[in-house]
Amino acid sequence: MNSLNFDSFLTLVANRQIWIWGAGNQGRGVCQALQRKAIPVAGFIDSAIDLAGKTALGLPIVSPNLIIQTKSASQVFIIIASFYFEEEIKSRCCLSGFKENCDFIVYSRLKPNDYAIDITGACNLKCVSCPHAYNNPAERRSGVMSLENFKRVIDKIVAESPFVGNLQLYQWGEPTLHKQLPDMLRYANAQGIKCAISSNLNVPADFEAIIEAKPEWLRLSTSGWGSHYEITHTQGKWPVFLQHLYEVCALRNRIHPEMKVEVFFHLYKHSQQAELEQWQKTCAELAIELHPVYAYLISLDDVLAYQEGKALPPIAQTTSEMLLLPLEHGLAEAKMEKHLPCDTFRCININWDLSVSNCMMYYYPTDNVAVDNYLDTSLTEIMKVREDCNLCQRCMDKGIHRYCGVYSRKRIAPGELVSDNMIGESDV
Ligand SMILES: C[S@@+](CC[C@H](N)C(=O)[O-])C[C@H]1O[C@@H](n2cnc3c(N)ncnc32)[C@H](O)[C@@H]1O
Repeated sequence: MNSLNFDSFLTLVANRQIWIWGAGNQGRGVCQALQRKAIPVAGFIDSAIDLAGKTALGLPIVSPNLIIQTKSASQVFIIIASFYFEEEIKSRCCLSGFKENCDFIVYSRLKPNDYAIDITGACNLKCVSCPHAYNNPAERRSGVMSLENFKRVIDKIVAESPFVGNLQLYQWGEPTLHKQLPDMLRYANAQGIKCAISSNLNVPADFEAIIEAKPEWLRLSTSGWGSHYEITHTQGKWPVFLQHLYEVCALRNRIHPEMKVEVFFHLYKHSQQAELEQWQKTCAELAIELHPVYAYLISLDDVLAYQEGKALPPIAQTTSEMLLLPLEHGLAEAKMEKHLPCDTFRCININWDLSVSNCMMYYYPTDNVAVDNYLDTSLTEIMKVREDCNLCQRCMDKGIHRYCGVYSRKRIAPGELVSDNMIGESDV
């Protein structure tokens, strides 16, 4: 199915109210792209109980039944903007009499590609689940992108993908190591692109300048509370993390109180109920979100090699024994979904050196450089190269393209670090 341009999109909407299903990153992205073109949006739909009645980008968030059961397709046009729950939401719309590509559309038809810009490949930590844990970070993976190149990258994204409203400024590196991060944020904002940052909060960065430059949201990655933190956030210092957490939240409250800050809590076997409760209490006190997520082996290089018959490297082996959701379990579930498409194929991962990865979830460049220079190559050509890529075929052959999604979609099972205030099921 071809992607739509703004004119054909407006013809399809035909004066109906636009509602966006999914109040998370994807939803905010489409909203920002529409607002950039002065196209009004009525609000967001989301089934997360804790979001109902709140607002996003100043617009109301309502529960699905309030729209699909009370309004007709002649009044409302829905854009489904969800990374993981697209199919489920499509079925709900159809059951309520809304027709695809007539009364609702999936955001991927407007914006076939998501973007990640890894502004620096370097990281200050050696977290055990990450390839940075190994002593030799891959060649070409640890420099910084210049501000000039960053500006050119943003300009090309806006020109080639007009419905893109946001993107992430990280993948493998630690973005706060980049001294020009505030300049980058400012430039992207001026072009109508909001940027998200994920940080380990262990760098003595100029957080005031970063927050003043207004990232779209800030994710703070942790894997425990107190001494447990340093087991899996290797070389991270818990007191530094905690001090920066309070500093960042105070700055957020003073400078941009509406900015979303979330703690992304990677759960391992050693994660305890008491730690989760401590995180809940702290996040409530700081008025930030808490997202507990089952930790997995985040570079698929080791996972694919393992499925192709090689032994896991010692660090990955030790880490896999710490996973709360065991590797074999994740792999078995991924294999059962093997027939389903890859969630990350649509993501264009631009590395600091301007190379584009075939897949953002693979770290090493071997077999994984789609093109050497993003700026010299059209989006169509990049996608063509990626479609024919051998790495994708090997990965899909083993069902590994579904592995990360298995972990990311999973909710914390009852009795397993159970709690009441955790962020509820959301459509994002
Ligand atoms: C490799 S990190 C790099 C960005 C930054 N340095 C950070 O620590 O947030 C990219 C993303 O992966 C997530 N991540 C890291 N290890 C993970 C794991 N074992 N399981 C799930 N997500 C993980 C982090 O929370 C972060 O959002």
